[in-house]
Amino acid sequence: MKINEKGHLVIGEVDAVELAEKYDTPLYVIDENKIRENYRRIYNAFKKRYDKFKILYACKANTNIAIMKILNDEGSGIDAVSPGEIYIALVAGFKPEEILFTGNNVRNDELEFAVESGVMINIDSISQLKRLSKLCNPEEVEISFRINPLVGAGHHEHCITGGEMSKFGIAEKDAVKAYSMAKNLGFKIKGIHCHIGSGILDPSPFLMAVDALTKIAERVSKEVGIEFEFIDIGGGFGIPYKPEEPELNIENLAKKIIEVFKERCDEYNLGNPWLYIEPGRYIVGNAACLLTRVNTIKKSYRKFAGVDAGFNTLIRPAMYGSYHHIIVANKANEEPCEKIDIAGNLCESGDIFARDRELPKLEEGDILAIMDAGAYCFSMSSQYNSRPRPAEVLVKDDKVSIIRERESIIDLLDKQVIPARLLKGGK
Ligand code: LLP
Repeated sequence: MKINEKGHLVIGEVDAVELAEKYDTPLYVIDENKIRENYRRIYNAFKKRYDKFKILYACKANTNIAIMKILNDEGSGIDAVSPGEIYIALVAGFKPEEILFTGNNVRNDELEFAVESGVMINIDSISQLKRLSKLCNPEEVEISFRINPLVGAGHHEHCITGGEMSKFGIAEKDAVKAYSMAKNLGFKIKGIHCHIGSGILDPSPFLMAVDALTKIAERVSKEVGIEFEFIDIGGGFGIPYKPEEPELNIENLAKKIIEVFKERCDEYNLGNPWLYIEPGRYIVGNAACLLTRVNTIKKSYRKFAGVDAGFNTLIRPAMYGSYHHIIVANKANEEPCEKIDIAGNLCESGDIFARDRELPKLEEGDILAIMDAGAYCFSMSSQYNSRPRPAEVLVKDDKVSIIRERESIIDLLDKQVIPARLLKGGK
């Protein structure tokens, strides 16, 4: 954490309190250098150990077009889950062949959109394969399959995407059937994919997934006669949210993953495929914070600091019970001296950012920085309680750019229509 002579939190080279004053709160502040550092750290850890390696940034974590541009500039590809994400990625400058569309329960028109945009399609069900084959010329479409390897992990039950309870992917036992159908239909089969979950800080589930996925690839390769160009092990690389949590040792993890990957590729005669990973959180998670202002201090049966953001702005604590570290941006040097609940401004009891958080003595007007808010925060925001969404600024050293304007009250009416009969006062 950087603190200046005024005792204020510094983001890049910019005073967070000045940002809050200039751009108002709630405000997402994103540090460009951190995104680039995170990307390079994870890229280099794998790339130096295995040359045929690519990152597909899981842009559901944060699709701001400026962030997409930064990752395009770094040489990343994209994991997209919807036509909207494909569209944003194309506008940001990604080439169709750098985008893998991994949809879940997709409609035919969404498949058509993917085909027309020329991206690779990662198929999630046999139903999707059959429907896709009817609306394209399979010989022109590159595909892979998302397989559920019965390995799952994640920071919360909602974030485990492998295993028997998961709605994602094709069951292991159906992998051979899916690939042979695709082959018979004439598709260009490129790869095999899995994604086991999100927010994983322990290496072992990743190693189990590599082990399981390569084993499935072997069976498919032998029984269907397919040579895989890539094996995609998904994302899920966790970040520490609590100060005492250790960071994921990415060097060590990359070393272990590559060891198992190479060993299995040799053992199973899979040749020398590309290895893809799809990190989202690891790249952008710690690169942003949410600045929010305390407007109410109150003691009822507990002590509360009420702020001008809510779970419509940042939902992770309400949705998963997630911890986000909080720094009092204008008192960044002060020692914690009281336990207090940090409450949002929505009419919901669950709208609490933290309970019993130890912080310096809070006063109305203080600026709180809710840390590690780069992944799954703005992208999961809403207008619930008819509260406009906040602005986002990008900081690069001492430069600040608005990358999303604050919504205003008028935006709440966007796309809404009053039927004419109600306008004239009829029933
Ligand atoms: N690939 C696929 C197919 C995914 O579904 C996901 C995340 C990722 C990659 C990237 O996972 P990451 O590296 O970011 O962990 N909203 C939740 C996380 C949901 C993740 C959904 N899928 C949260 O705030 O914790």
